[in-house]
Amino acid sequence: MSPVAREARIRPMTAADLDRVIEIAASLSQAPHWPREVYAAALDADAAPRRIALVAEDAASGITAGFAMASLTPPEAELETIAVAAGLQRRGLARQLFQTLARALRQQQVRVTLLEVRASNEQALAFYRALGFEAAGRRRRYYADPIEDAALMRLVLD
Ligand SMILES: CC(C)(COP(=O)(O)OP(=O)(O)OC[C@H]1O[C@@H](n2cnc3c(N)ncnc32)[C@H](O)[C@@H]1OP(=O)(O)O)[C@@H](O)C(=O)NCCC(=O)NCCS
Repeated sequence: MSPVAREARIRPMTAADLDRVIEIAASLSQAPHWPREVYAAALDADAAPRRIALVAEDAASGITAGFAMASLTPPEAELETIAVAAGLQRRGLARQLFQTLARALRQQQVRVTLLEVRASNEQALAFYRALGFEAAGRRRRYYADPIEDAALMRLVLD
C-alpha cells in the first residue's frame, strides 16, 4: 500500500452523515454529484430496490473519510458509488469499505456485483481490478457532461 495504511471503522450511513458525504462527493470530480434526496433515499429501509449505504471513519482521527452505496436486486447488486476523500486515498479505506459491503451483500443472497464507471476513470478502474472485478462490456456514450462511454465490470462474490 502506498502511504501508511489506516484502520477504518465501517458502519451504516445515517442521516447525520449526509452533510459530510455530500461534501466528500462534491470535492471529487469523479464522484457522482447527486442531490441530497438521492442520498437520503438510500437510507430508507422500505425503499425498492433496497440499498446498503456505508461510511468509513478514519479510526485515528474519527473523520468520516469515505462512503459506498449499492442497490440490491438479489442475486445481483449494483455498486453505485464508492469514494474516499482525496487526502485519505491509497490507505486501504475503500478496500475496507468494499469488504464490509461485500459481506453484507452476501448475507442478502447477492452473488454477483455489477458496476458502471467512466471509461477514463483510471484510478477507479485500477481499484476495481484490485478487488477482482472484471470487464463486462461497454455502454457507448452512457455519461453526459462530458459525454463518455461507461465501462461495465462484474465480480462474482465467493
Ligand atoms: C477509487 C477510490 C474509491 C479508491 O479509494 P482508496 O481508498 O484510495 O482505495 P484503496 O486505498 O483501498 O486501494 C485499494 C487498491 O486499489 C488500487 N488503487 C486504488 N487507487 C488507485 C490509484 N489511484 N491508482 C492505481 N491503483 C489504485 C490499488 O491496487 C490499491 O492497493 P495498494 O494501495 O495497496 O496499491 C478513490 O480513488 C476515489 O474516491 N476516487 C474518486 C471517486 C471515484 O472515482 N469513485 C468511483 C466511481 S463512483
